[in-house]
Amino acid sequence: MNDSRETSKANKPKVIGIRRLKEPMPTPLKTRVFTVANQKGGVGKTTTAVNIAAALAMGGLKVLVIDLDPQGNACTALGIDREDIAGMYEVLVKDLPLSQVVEKVAGFPHLECAPADVELAGAEINMVGFVSRESRLKLALEKFLAEREASGNRIDYVIIDCPPSLGLLTVNALTAAEEVMVPIQCEYYSLEGLTLLLKTLQQVQQMLNQRVRISTIVLTMFDSRTRLANDVANSVRQHFPNELIDVPIPRAVRVSEAPSFNQTVMTYDASSPGAIAYMTVAREIARRGSGEPLNNSNNLNNGAHTA
Ligand SMILES: Nc1ncnc2c1ncn2[C@@H]1O[C@H](COP(=O)(O)OP(=O)(O)OP(=O)(O)O)[C@@H](O)[C@H]1O
Ligand SMILES: [Mg+2]
Repeated sequence: MNDSRETSKANKPKVIGIRRLKEPMPTPLKTRVFTVANQKGGVGKTTTAVNIAAALAMGGLKVLVIDLDPQGNACTALGIDREDIAGMYEVLVKDLPLSQVVEKVAGFPHLECAPADVELAGAEINMVGFVSRESRLKLALEKFLAEREASGNRIDYVIIDCPPSLGLLTVNALTAAEEVMVPIQCEYYSLEGLTLLLKTLQQVQQMLNQRVRISTIVLTMFDSRTRLANDVANSVRQHFPNELIDVPIPRAVRVSEAPSFNQTVMTYDASSPGAIAYMTVAREIARRGSGEPLNNSNNLNNGAHTA
């Protein structure tokens, strides 16, 4: 069963061919649901969400990105047109099944996206009166994942991109996920922001979802030449030794250019330093989810090719 619709817009640059790695990534024992959250704006949430999703899909895994940010930046990077489509607003507010809004992402064998439609900006206000308003996404996602599993088409990874706030949309994402991925830009106020996120997470754990935890921290837009970046990285390393994936994503022009071509950097320039770093991080995430021993994780094969 597959309700997805292939995105194709004649007037946009298209990804040609299908991207797949020669060496597949290990499948997780069960579907892993990640929420990419940090209430600080512009720290690389969306860039991390779409590029890790793309890298996992290139590794042969079945991946769903949920764009839960009314800005719709994840849709842009994945080449999904947000005009005149049903998206996460309809799912959260109007009970439309998730399967009816999910679209296939061009250029990847198993990458799909549940788009942020233009109405999503009004979702928080419109959900206020609902009973269990914090669990709307969780219920929709559970149903969707169960349907896919039953049809033999299990999703391996769900990656939810959040807006830069700790409002009801982010709380829905934290309630729906077991794992939180926190992108941290190594600058002065980064760790203060983390304290607030941890407080919200604690509340969600107490009231809504006991199992959710920060499992993954990614350092973004890293500039190794600055002392501040290295100091912040050391501090994160000290506080989150198990969660940190110690492969910083470098600040790189190709990463920031890719969305303007409606692409992730994984297809835009797979051999650029940013793409290689995201691929390494994705492979490590997949390794951690499969229980494989560590020495396989450094075995980076960035041999993306067009099939
Ligand atoms: N590694 C990188 N190198 C250079 N530019 C980057 C890198 N990562 C992200 N950027 C750029 O930084 C900006 C912010 O990134 P992004 O949109 O991913 O952050 P965000 O946390 O999702 O923002 P928001 O809080 O608005 O949702 C974007 O213009 C993006 O292209
Ligand atoms: Mg964003």
